[in-house]
Amino acid sequence: MSSFPRRRMRRLRATPAIRTLCAETRLDPARLVQPVFVVEDGAMAGPVPSMPGVERHTLDTLEGEIEQIVAAGVGGVMLFGLPARKDAAGSTAWQPDGVVPRAVERIKSLTDRVVVIADVCLCEYTDHGHCGVLCDGRVDNDATLDVLAQTAIAYARAGADWVAPSAMADGMVGAIRSGLDEHHLADVGILSYAVKYASSFYGPFRDAADCAPKSGDRAGYQMDPANVREAIAEARLDVEEGADLLMVKPALPYLDVIRRVRDVFPEIPLVAYQVSGEYSMIEAAAANGWLDRRRVALESLTAICRAGADVTISYHAKRVADWLPR
Ligand code: PBG
Repeated sequence: MSSFPRRRMRRLRATPAIRTLCAETRLDPARLVQPVFVVEDGAMAGPVPSMPGVERHTLDTLEGEIEQIVAAGVGGVMLFGLPARKDAAGSTAWQPDGVVPRAVERIKSLTDRVVVIADVCLCEYTDHGHCGVLCDGRVDNDATLDVLAQTAIAYARAGADWVAPSAMADGMVGAIRSGLDEHHLADVGILSYAVKYASSFYGPFRDAADCAPKSGDRAGYQMDPANVREAIAEARLDVEEGADLLMVKPALPYLDVIRRVRDVFPEIPLVAYQVSGEYSMIEAAAANGWLDRRRVALESLTAICRAGADVTISYHAKRVADWLPR
């Protein structure tokens, strides 16, 4: 093995062209997904204060947002709905003319250039803000499964390419797969939020989607940040139940988890979700002049990709195309 001075690592860093040619990881907007919030009641539309640069859209302003996303070359959108009405059962989640089915139909009538992914959860639709049906103050896992399946069926019927259950209910992927298959929706894929931690980084999202739990927290169903072996168990169960893709969420504080899941399930596409708090930290520091927004966002997304994510969901997605060197 030759060593210094014959081997100089700096040679392959000498110019931007050399660095680009030798880069082991390359960001591609086509492998990013932009989350989009859609409101049923126009009074709730507009900027999200804790997420500067992120808007809540009506079905009408959604069109311009989708045009921007397509123009940026972003590969997919993840839809979150805010209903006009909530109740204990979250019944507005699975209405065929609810906000998400209508948003899916609208996007599908505009373009086939983005993969349309519909988040499937109840927390935006329940008046208590938990991700399932409550019984004695706790989420009743098994009673929640049918409701999640009905919701996924409604979104799939509207034309969603993939449904993405995020409720962390045991058995949710299997229940949704069976429901879709029984309703002749076998071609619709399931992107499972398989490895979803009980994270404080979701704070700004809960403002945006108006879904903070009114009492307690989500630690009874989301994962403990201390655990990684448990992530493998979660991912394995979801693969066995029929998940087409796996997700790890959040992303940057969990790069080790992304790498573990990537290595243990090499055959399953892996999606990472750079969540609201990760986004807002960058935006807040950038607004103060403490960090360079563009460079920090690109570095974060590159790190997530390097750790093993095939696809990354990011609130910066539609801006990344403009930021990448051409
Ligand atoms: C709904 C859901 C949440 C996020 C995605 N789907 C919130 C939560 O679990 O509390 C968080 C996304 C983000 O922070 O950007 N279950």
